[in-house]
Amino acid sequence: MSHAVTAIHAASKPEFYASFNRQLEAVLHGERDWVCNLAQTSALLMQMLPDLNWAGFYLLRGGELVLGPFQGRIACMRIKVGAGVCGTAAAKQQSVVVSNVHDFPGHIACDSASNSEVVVPLLHHGRLLGVLDLDSPRLNRFDAEDARGLERSAAILLAASDIA
Ligand code: SME
Repeated sequence: MSHAVTAIHAASKPEFYASFNRQLEAVLHGERDWVCNLAQTSALLMQMLPDLNWAGFYLLRGGELVLGPFQGRIACMRIKVGAGVCGTAAAKQQSVVVSNVHDFPGHIACDSASNSEVVVPLLHHGRLLGVLDLDSPRLNRFDAEDARGLERSAAILLAASDIA
């Protein structure tokens, strides 16, 4: 089934994410396939959030983060837990907001256009499944409100899917 999504005009980030997350739930409704829902979520993020150059997932496979469904330029395919922003969020099992990636020790540069980044862990009943990663060409694009809104997006995605 296809869905129309509507542009979001919000006065604040919490309002923005409330609207985004309602649309995410509507888009995923009725589909339980994990890969399908990962792919659709990455596309919806890229379509709806301003100032992104990359949006997608790394999935934990054999103790390493492996590139999953995403939108953007080709990216590094494997990241060790503990390495870069993604590996740090995975190791800590916490969201990481980086206002300037050039100041983050060990940042893994996949797209030279990226200047800021947010990574949110995918936690399913306390088990780490991977991370959601968003990159922006704009410095300081993300803050704690983005992380909270995207953590809710991750929870919606996980609840909507049968985890493979
Ligand atoms: N910058 C990330 C790597 C993934 S790409 O941005 C798509 C990192 O440091 O983990």
